[in-house]
Amino acid sequence: AQLHLLARATGKQYFGTATDNPELVDKPYLKQLSNNHDFGQITPSNSMKWFATEPVQGKFNFTGAEEIVKLAKKNKQLVRGHNCVWHSQLADWVESGAFDNVTLTSIMIKHCYTLVKHFKGDILQWDVVNEPFNEDGTFRSTVFYDTIGESYIETALRSARAADPSAKLYINDYNIEGLSPKSTGMLNLVKSLKAKRAPIDGIGIQGHLIVGQLPSFDSIKSNLQAFTNLGVDVAITELDIRMPTPPTTDSLAQQKIDYETVVKACNEVKRCVGVTIWDWTDKYSWVPGVFTGEGAALPWDDDLKKKPAYDGIAAGL
Ligand code: XIL
Repeated sequence: AQLHLLARATGKQYFGTATDNPELVDKPYLKQLSNNHDFGQITPSNSMKWFATEPVQGKFNFTGAEEIVKLAKKNKQLVRGHNCVWHSQLADWVESGAFDNVTLTSIMIKHCYTLVKHFKGDILQWDVVNEPFNEDGTFRSTVFYDTIGESYIETALRSARAADPSAKLYINDYNIEGLSPKSTGMLNLVKSLKAKRAPIDGIGIQGHLIVGQLPSFDSIKSNLQAFTNLGVDVAITELDIRMPTPPTTDSLAQQKIDYETVVKACNEVKRCVGVTIWDWTDKYSWVPGVFTGEGAALPWDDDLKKKPAYDGIAAGL
């Protein structure tokens, strides 16, 4: 059976994938992307980011994002919004503007509010804040944290809630799959946001992992459980499991096991609502462009053929 159908049958909301606008001209790619038995949800991997949506102060551009939301509607797929506030793929004017606290706060509120409002009613979950942590669980130094302080997170969440009260609001980060100092940082942040009655609905766990180097199943499951015990949902938002290229029979077999491990951990935690892979074919994975000598991270290969990882996911669902 196919991935989204399997996910629905086990009580999850969706199984999904990221996609990006330039890929949509590839006909065989578009056909499988639109297969809502495998993918019940899509995430635009770039076109909702700040550089794309507010490249010039006050000049919003939703063309790319709208194309993907429209496609999702046509395919009857849910959409995750990604993202409002992030230190990367930001617009130059935000970072180099040397804005003071009051000014940057109003810039950030306006950005989030306008973006989330534009897609009001169309988005299941928003990654309101992306990657706020360092590996040791302290807050990452970014223009937002350095200028506004920790409260930028709560402020961004409140502006997103005001813009679309029905969207589930997430904080999203990587290397928080298993129990770790970074996961503890996330746990403490969400605990404190809850105590302030800030609008936080979920924790996004990116899941950019390495074949053979995952945290254990127990560590992942315990961590997801600890997050949901705070009274929020969790989602695996950007799963890919990379390996040295070219792949071998052994590395593909281990990758299958690793996909199953992550998907099964989500499956066994009630409030883990769904899993999204960070695109579905190695042809369009971001991995080789960023991690030298690594790739083959997704469940379909460069020729859009299913790899053993596909069956690993199916087995975990
Ligand atoms: C990546 C995209 O996939 C690439 O196309 C882009 O060049 C860089 O960003 N964490 C995130 C995602 O939250 O937004 C990133 O996406 C991957 C890491």
